[in-house]
Amino acid sequence: MKKLRSQNWFGKTGKDGFIYRAWMKNQGIPTDEFTGKPVIGICNTWSELTPCNAHFRELAESIKKGVWEAGGFPLEFPVMSLGEVLMKPTTMLYRNLASMDAEESIRANPLDGVVLMGGCDKTTPSILMGACSVDIPSIVLSGGPMLNGKFRGRDIGTTQLWEFSEAHRKGEMTQEDFLESEACMCRSSGHCAVMGTASTMACMVESLGLSLPHNAAIPAADSRRKVMAQLTGRRIVKMVEEDLCLSKILTREAFEDAIMVNAAIGGSTNFVVHLLAIAGRIGVELSLDDFDKLSAKIPLLANLSPSGQYMMEEFYYAGGLPAVMQEMLPVLHKDRPTVSGKTIAENVSGAPYLDRKVIAPMDEPFKPASGIAVVRGNLCEHGAIIKPSAATPALMQHTGKAVVFEHIEDYKARIDDPDLDVDENSILVLKNVGPKGYPGMPEVGNMGMPAKLLAKGVTDMVRISDGRMSGTAFGTVFLHVSPEAATGGTFALVQEGDLIAVDVPARSINLQVSEEELAKRRAQWKPLELGYDRGYTKMYIEHVEQAHQGVDFDFLKGKSGSEVKRESH
Ligand code: FES
Repeated sequence: MKKLRSQNWFGKTGKDGFIYRAWMKNQGIPTDEFTGKPVIGICNTWSELTPCNAHFRELAESIKKGVWEAGGFPLEFPVMSLGEVLMKPTTMLYRNLASMDAEESIRANPLDGVVLMGGCDKTTPSILMGACSVDIPSIVLSGGPMLNGKFRGRDIGTTQLWEFSEAHRKGEMTQEDFLESEACMCRSSGHCAVMGTASTMACMVESLGLSLPHNAAIPAADSRRKVMAQLTGRRIVKMVEEDLCLSKILTREAFEDAIMVNAAIGGSTNFVVHLLAIAGRIGVELSLDDFDKLSAKIPLLANLSPSGQYMMEEFYYAGGLPAVMQEMLPVLHKDRPTVSGKTIAENVSGAPYLDRKVIAPMDEPFKPASGIAVVRGNLCEHGAIIKPSAATPALMQHTGKAVVFEHIEDYKARIDDPDLDVDENSILVLKNVGPKGYPGMPEVGNMGMPAKLLAKGVTDMVRISDGRMSGTAFGTVFLHVSPEAATGGTFALVQEGDLIAVDVPARSINLQVSEEELAKRRAQWKPLELGYDRGYTKMYIEHVEQAHQGVDFDFLKGKSGSEVKRESH
């Protein structure tokens, strides 16, 4: 076994060794723990402000059991936790900050390997991005989804939030029923139960080969989640012995497989910005076109909300991600390594299919269209994305008049105005909700429909924005427009009544306005005054990259490795 990096602290003699060990001993740690056992960091995103991760302390205890059993020495540490429901203005503003916390905490401390505990949406990509920039042996343990919500005999999950709030706005659901449904949705520990961003991230790490098989779908409340934690603890110790660091697993092939698997499960559109950012950290070339190209040949196999009917609990009972990946083995890179020490094919071969209603075979898929389609045109030279499986087929080729909202407050002020000049053929355009423009690229792209169209029974219309959309949402929604409005791209120049033509089969999105007129508008364009002149948000605006590049900071791309260059003792 290679020399443990933790021995650069605990293996020292004299004053330095004394200092490194003596203060640790105030936690009741015997001397032999410091004598060459792999030190395993447990990077915990637990927080009571992140309810999806509120059970993580208990899970960390199970990881520790596994680490001890395998001969390692576990040390748990907290990093910034990003709770999707409470944090304002959006957790995406802090993803890169949390990644810096994870990166620096891992590098600065005497760790030989690390277990990354992610759950709620951004907690997974943030700590993984940070770990990639250090590149020591790392394994992910996800917190697991909630059990299905139960409301009046019906299974519900986060997707029903949109359905219920529209029904409530239309007067079809009383205030009392709305309140009761609120208490029925989140009835166990865990993250959102649908194939939203958290479940997508858990599937992403499993398909990349960064977690043990079945990590993605075991419900948080199922005792097998604790078993998964214990096995993960055992495995990371072996990974240190094998020097199985992240860059050995995160190859170009791993990213390609993750994109195809995400298509098959109908994963969230947020997958795109997070996977691009992770690839950027580990140093693998990946572009927006890879998502379109690789997912085009993959049908939708998982019948999971919001693209389908079921939730993560049923997904697990139906065979989970190993069953999906076994079905996909002919198109995956079967022989690439994973954290289990086995190849992908060895991990998933023989995985049982237990319910074909939930996981369909490749030759009889749940839906033919899946994945992410990338459209380009004069509206967005660097692209925009749409999730076809969540969109209305009849709207995939459509030309309509733009109804333009300059920012989110403008949208909120006017969307329900009875005088709003809008019909079902209109195209809603929301600007200045991109990475720099908001700032933080919030999930407002699936903007709610105008009240007067809802009253007419219209359920979907084309919507375009430079923001993101919740992984639990659906609709014919074009997202991640790049360049965003705040940088003065053509998207900033769209005006009320302009014609926009979208054509997903042709992968195009165009503003039907002459070049002369656009040049005139460009000359008059002024950026919005955002008023952030200090602190983290100022730095964010100055350094954040565009959606097609993964929304990471320009100075965080790549890795610095695990070496600590200077020592103060
Ligand atoms: Fe945490 Fe949905 S709010 S995963």
